[in-house]
Amino acid sequence: MRQFTEDTLTDAVVARLKGVKNPRFKQLMTSLIRHLHAYAKDVQLTEEEWFEAIKFLTAVGQKCDGKRQEFILLSDVLGLSMMTVAINHKTEPGSTEATVLGPFFAHGAKEFGYGGDLREGATQKGEDVWVTGRVQSSDGKPIPGAVLDVWQAKADGIYDLQTGGEFELRGRVKANAKGEYGFKSYKPKFYSIPMDGPVGDLVRATGNHHMRPAHMHAIVSAPGYQQVITHVFVDGDPYLESDAVFAVKDSLIIKYRKLPADEAKKLGMPEKSLKLEFDFKLAPDKAGAKKARKKIAASDAVA
Ligand code: BEZ
Ligand code: FE
Repeated sequence: MRQFTEDTLTDAVVARLKGVKNPRFKQLMTSLIRHLHAYAKDVQLTEEEWFEAIKFLTAVGQKCDGKRQEFILLSDVLGLSMMTVAINHKTEPGSTEATVLGPFFAHGAKEFGYGGDLREGATQKGEDVWVTGRVQSSDGKPIPGAVLDVWQAKADGIYDLQTGGEFELRGRVKANAKGEYGFKSYKPKFYSIPMDGPVGDLVRATGNHHMRPAHMHAIVSAPGYQQVITHVFVDGDPYLESDAVFAVKDSLIIKYRKLPADEAKKLGMPEKSLKLEFDFKLAPDKAGAKKARKKIAASDAVA
């Protein structure tokens, strides 16, 4: 057959995959074609609307460069990033829940040991905070030498990658021999996702707000354990109920408390500093844990 109707076209397109050797690729493509065709039929897509969508996707691609990842942002606001997290991270009991990576992770941040100061070189000040806790296995054993890749927005809610220049408020923090980590930073504030591109236009068109509740990002890794990509949110933030990218998990919402005066003194921090305590728990990287999230690799670098 060479001529198709609304009713026969989908099967004809899928049939062209018959020679595909890789079964997973074949499954992904078959389902994609069926869902796309069903969508077009469901909404009776007009040619003008499809051309608008193509212009939008083109603009998303054109907005991407070495420092800007508009496709990740699109995936985030559509809830697709969190859907893949939900599918792939049925959190093992006792281990830290995963959430979105977001578009602002970068490789090559400075390394810090226990007590490191991520405020070094920061161009804006915030409320000083001592961030500390343990990295443990999900059954409570310390994980010496675990590494936390940490990043957060500056006081104005903008990430260093958005303005170019030097890295700010990010680092690779190594836990000590007892699996304890500690670093100095600023308390994060809520901020807007980038709204100066096509994804911003999309969000505006929905009439929804474009804010994310305050958080620090962390990717926690250690040999023999599943890496977790997560956030630690600030308890009491006004946007916890309506995160623009659907990434809040209750277990990741933590209270910032006052840093006791003796600890502040010992750490050389201002008397009015805050303290954030959070223990990261990693699930074992069982051989054959097929669903383990692919480790962040050099090729995933945004910058
Ligand atoms: C972030 O947390 O950095 C982020 C996540 C999703 C979209 C925009 C920003
Ligand atoms: Fe963020």
